[in-house]
Amino acid sequence: MKILSILAIAASLLVPAAVEAAVNKGVVGSDHDFSKTNYLAFNTRRGVCTPCHTAHATDPAQIAPLFAHKTSTGPFTMYSSPTIKHTPGTVPDGASLACLSCHDGTIGVNSPIQGTQGGISTNTPVFVQPNHKVGPDLHTDHPISFVYDAALAAASGELENPVTYKIGDPKTTLTVQTPPVPATWTGTDLTGKTIDEALLVNHKMQCTSCHDPHWIKGNTPLRGQATIVDGNDADGRGSLMCRTCHIK
Ligand code: HEC
Ligand code: HEC
Ligand code: HEC
Ligand code: HEC
Repeated sequence: MKILSILAIAASLLVPAAVEAAVNKGVVGSDHDFSKTNYLAFNTRRGVCTPCHTAHATDPAQIAPLFAHKTSTGPFTMYSSPTIKHTPGTVPDGASLACLSCHDGTIGVNSPIQGTQGGISTNTPVFVQPNHKVGPDLHTDHPISFVYDAALAAASGELENPVTYKIGDPKTTLTVQTPPVPATWTGTDLTGKTIDEALLVNHKMQCTSCHDPHWIKGNTPLRGQATIVDGNDADGRGSLMCRTCHIK
């Protein structure tokens, strides 16, 4: 009986990874599912993708692929510190700017780039909740919108080289070398890819280096705040995401 229950516990510890992986993908059911009933007042056609993308007449600047939402103009304050080795830009760009177009709280979620595109009613602006507001003052947020390349890694000395370090590789330069992303995640679309391939956009660090707006990318066992890399390493430690890029 005792042995059986120990086996059952062991099995239950192993199972969630596989089960959660199956349910944690996709926009529907996620926080970005604006087809949910509480959004029907503005999303008249219950579009799942249309609040962010449409097929035609999208954002001329293409900050994100076929982006159909108005773009925030801030005004933004970027992260800076005496110890960073990259030169911060003056404004966020690319995918980060797309995220901030809802998340900095200056523009409503229901703000198509033109008219009522996608059947989105703009009558009453709906803003992100205060606890989901990020920016436009970004000086207390992880830096974004800069190139993270081999040169930056070399200048820092405490960042993995994003073009050679593969997710799941041991941290060879640290005393404890346990890879942040465990070997049990092999076969996901993250392990075996370089940081540059899996987490950067045009070699740039963006909000999407840590989050996927379509829920999660890999078959990561756990999910928190739509983060791409989440869960615990082989030794049960967290902060996998941070320890993937940082040599700390
Ligand atoms: C909350 C806004 C949002 C919603 C909803 C959304 N997307 Fe996206 N999508 C983005 C952003 C921002 C990017 C650029 C960042 C990235 O690549 O993840 C993007 C990128 C993409 C890309 C190109 C890059 C990639 O990740 O493959 C495709 C294809 C895409 N979205 C399809 C869809 C489809 C299909 C839906 C509906 C099922 C959808 N998106 C819903 C915001 C959204
Ligand atoms: C069209 C508007 C819109 C865009 C674009 C958008 N979001 Fe969101 N996001 C929301 C809303 C609305 C919520 C739900 C919570 C709320 O109402 O404040 C949310 C929730 C989230 C959450 C919380 C998820 C959770 O599980 O708790 C994260 C993280 C997030 N967004 C990140 C991003 C990132 C990163 C991007 C860009 C890649 C992005 N969002 C683009 C509107 C948007
Ligand atoms: C270095 C990784 C990283 C980057 C870059 C990043 N985030 Fe996050 N984000 C996180 C983590 C981790 C959490 C969960 C925090 C927690 O639970 O305390 C989070 C939480 C959030 C939340 C949920 C509410 C909150 O504040 O806890 C939102 C919304 C969000 N991020 C949006 C963004 C946006 C927009 C950007 C780009 C401007 C961004 N994130 C960039 C790692 C990141
Ligand atoms: C995709 C890679 C990546 C991820 C994931 C990541 N970082 Fe970073 N982080 C960077 C880069 C690149 C810099 C800029 C370093 C520089 O310019 O010297 C940075 C900067 C920082 C800084 C500021 C350093 C300074 O000198 O001011 C801190 C602190 C930090 N990250 C902590 C974290 C934490 C905590 C997490 C996890 C929530 C995290 N990072 C996740 C790549 C990443």
